[in-house]
Amino acid sequence: MSDTVRFLLGESDLPSAWYNINADMPVAPAPVLHPGTHEPVTPDFLSALFPMALIAQEVSTERYIEIPDEVREIYKLWRPTPLVRARRLEQALGTPAHIYYKYEGVSPTGSHKPNTAVAQAFYNRDSGTKALTTETGAGQWGSALAFASNVFGLELEVYMVRVSFEQKPYRRVAMETFGAQVFASPTDRTAYGRSVREADPDSPGSLGIAISEAVEVAATSHGAKKYSLGSVLNHVLLHQTVIGEEALKQMDLAQEYPDVVIGCVGGGSNFAGIAYPFLRQKIREGRSTRIVAVEPTAAPTLTKGRYAFDYGDTARMAPIVKMHTLGHDFVPAPIHAGGLRYHGMAPGVSALYDAGLIEATAVPQLATFDAAVTFARAEGIIPAPEPSHAIRVAIDEALAAKEASEERVILFNLCGHGHFDLASYEAYLRGQLVDYEYPAEAIDRAMAALPDV
Ligand SMILES: Cc1ncc(COP(=O)(O)O)c(C=O)c1O
Repeated sequence: MSDTVRFLLGESDLPSAWYNINADMPVAPAPVLHPGTHEPVTPDFLSALFPMALIAQEVSTERYIEIPDEVREIYKLWRPTPLVRARRLEQALGTPAHIYYKYEGVSPTGSHKPNTAVAQAFYNRDSGTKALTTETGAGQWGSALAFASNVFGLELEVYMVRVSFEQKPYRRVAMETFGAQVFASPTDRTAYGRSVREADPDSPGSLGIAISEAVEVAATSHGAKKYSLGSVLNHVLLHQTVIGEEALKQMDLAQEYPDVVIGCVGGGSNFAGIAYPFLRQKIREGRSTRIVAVEPTAAPTLTKGRYAFDYGDTARMAPIVKMHTLGHDFVPAPIHAGGLRYHGMAPGVSALYDAGLIEATAVPQLATFDAAVTFARAEGIIPAPEPSHAIRVAIDEALAAKEASEERVILFNLCGHGHFDLASYEAYLRGQLVDYEYPAEAIDRAMAALPDV
């Protein structure tokens, strides 16, 4: 057995196609519905928000979608990303398990989000779009789209959830450095933002509210602006599959195959990115890999939410999709994993969970930061709070392997570094963080407001 730590690929190994799991889904996807009529949406409705190429990818059942050369050229700035064997973490835990992580923190803005931001900016530029709007939670998505918009000469307005805007001022500066305009949502720039502020002047905001604002600006721009989403939709998830395609090759280099693949889930994109190519091997080649999605106990969309049709945003302007949901008016507790506070889950991930092809588990904030610090001290990387949820479960798997004296192979997606999250670490180190359990009554109440379809 070699003692290699980093499993590296060359530029020529950069995937030439994204994997579209729609081709291999065991269940047909539920239709996407118009938020007003509750009838299936038409491409016309979606084209107010997205360019046709992305709408086509949304509903495509082609197994592979070629990555345009211009996108691959930009990917070369940071891809292929390293696969690392966490040997020092294994030693610290005294586990016989082999722990691998795919490190997406080497991207220009420090997370997996540029994998889709670059693709979305490319297709928008290609179809003549001049300006984009979006929302951001932790600021990772906003920074990624700011970087990508700048590459393709697009203007960008970012609606940033107010609580994150205040917790992470440097993310705003990063977005502005790339040329984007950033607003704390709810703002007074939109009819919906004004209505939220009227009802609650101290509203901390939520991803659902910020999405409503960004969608409203694009939808009322008479075609001048398009909207871009950083997670949840199929085209976003499939752009992320470069992560798993590379990881498959790198596990080959390591001459191992994971028994378990782990990713954190907000809207589902980094999880899908690493997991879908391994799921393809599971569905098509009979591999028995366990695939685990990890969410916070403060936003337990898969483990406690209902699998039902719901709006994608709080103002009920975005399409209705069938997904695991906590209700579109969900306002989460201010946990530090800003990217995991969305009320819904990607329809694809929800369907796979419903079909029993993937597992899900929820972990509390303090145990998550315990794991993050253990990881940082062993491996030298301070992880973002979001992937620290995956680290928690990877460590628990490694400890269970120790208990059982098993040489389990564990792979997780380290989808971002935490260099902009040090205020969260400071709060943790000073003993100021608390756990949040989302109350069952709140979920029951929210279910009464689901659309009647
Ligand atoms: C570092 C990081 N990880 C994870 C997420 C969650 O999103 P997704 O589930 O789409 O990967 C975010 C979202 O902002 C993020 O910034």
